[in-house]
Amino acid sequence: MTAFDTIIKGGTIVTAADRYRADIGISGGRITAIAAELSSAGTVIDAGGLLVLPGGIDSHVHLSQPSSDSSVMADDFQSGTRAAAAGGTTTVLPFALQKKGQSLREAVAAYHAEADGKCHVDVSFHLIISDPTPQVLGQELPALIEAGYRSFKVFMTYDDLVLNDRQLLEVFAVAGLHGATVMVHAEGYDAIRFLSEKLEREGHVAPYYHAISRPEIVEREATHRAISHAEITGIPIVIVHVSGREALEQIRWARARGLKVTAETCPQYITLTAEDLHDLNMDFNGAKYVCSPPPRDAASQAAIWQGLTDGTLELFSSDHCPFFFQDAQGRGKDTPKARTSFRWVPNGIPGVETRLPILFSEGVSKGRISLETFVALTATNHAKTYGLYPRKGTIAIGSDADLVLWDATRQETIRQANLHHGSDYTPWEGFEVTGWPVVTILRGEVVMKDGQILNRPGAGAYISRSRSID
Ligand code: URP
Ligand code: ZN
Ligand code: ZN
Repeated sequence: MTAFDTIIKGGTIVTAADRYRADIGISGGRITAIAAELSSAGTVIDAGGLLVLPGGIDSHVHLSQPSSDSSVMADDFQSGTRAAAAGGTTTVLPFALQKKGQSLREAVAAYHAEADGKCHVDVSFHLIISDPTPQVLGQELPALIEAGYRSFKVFMTYDDLVLNDRQLLEVFAVAGLHGATVMVHAEGYDAIRFLSEKLEREGHVAPYYHAISRPEIVEREATHRAISHAEITGIPIVIVHVSGREALEQIRWARARGLKVTAETCPQYITLTAEDLHDLNMDFNGAKYVCSPPPRDAASQAAIWQGLTDGTLELFSSDHCPFFFQDAQGRGKDTPKARTSFRWVPNGIPGVETRLPILFSEGVSKGRISLETFVALTATNHAKTYGLYPRKGTIAIGSDADLVLWDATRQETIRQANLHHGSDYTPWEGFEVTGWPVVTILRGEVVMKDGQILNRPGAGAYISRSRSID
């Protein structure tokens, strides 16, 4: 009889609060001991020379999500969670999207059917509310919040998702009443339509004009409006995928007023710019970088770093929204219709697998953020914001043994050929990083070692969530 199922030996543990050398004892999928020296285990994993971090939590991921056009997501729950595991992430929060006219319960059931038996890491759903009927607001949503679906996203743009101001206010009020967390996609629908149609009339239809059709002012205006609605209804909100200085200014303004506004950013806003959308060789390559909000410029990247270091931005997610670039069945970004206008290029890029290496390399290895801030931005703050803490997002006795063993000195070049996602490209092809996940552990079981996925689809569990921690 051994004391532990597994011991992680000789690593340097890092949490959002501290770092120290210790062994970790794991039994029944949970951390049961942390001490300078542990012995007596069925399995001993040598972490000598490695960092031991909480498994990444990616709280903004789209998997198996239907689009209104013919594009199809390049990742289902199997390939998307496989990619997450390969990149050191042990929990993902994808969206269960309510189509207009659909009941929320139906949407949730459909996503469970998509996910069941397929996941390599743990999963919990946010909802997307696109049709806030009296039935949805009065009955379905409160019941689902009570059942552990404690967060939902609303959109201020996109034809098939946009809510008007009255609807936003009503949805916010329900969240306030029942203790749910609202995530807001803050870009203004009418301004985007106005600018897009003007650009099209002028013949500016290449992918680059996607960025011109959604300038920072469009994001700034919507961020301010969402914050105002949150103040009117008295609720905290999360502004997702913040891309630059202007939205950040609104968030700082709101916080100075005492409002609880949490803000998220993503790898694209520290590494890409609108220039990446330029179709330099007339090969439509710019479409690979079309996402919303679009990447901005060097000054915005600097503003995002400022937000990450001063605590304005607390969540670093991928917004993994994977499409094929070219797909024989015409389901990707490069289609005859998309070549007629940027408006028809599916919005979104893959990134769940590269999120941690990019932030580690650009942040920790380049001396911009501490190891502890890295852990907070990639795991702990997600767990706190979305009701998973302290079960997940930290290394503590009683927590799930979700860990990533991290080689802080390993140099890698990101290559599509080595990634595990379903998409046929990565926006970061050729991007060099220092720092790499070498082992991913989910509830005590090794999921990934040296890039090999070792667990079976279905080993990942669905996690029901409690209220967020303020
Ligand atoms: O372009 C993006 N971000 N697509 C994903 C959907 C969303 O708004 O998060
Ligand atoms: Zn969004
Ligand atoms: Zn998204």
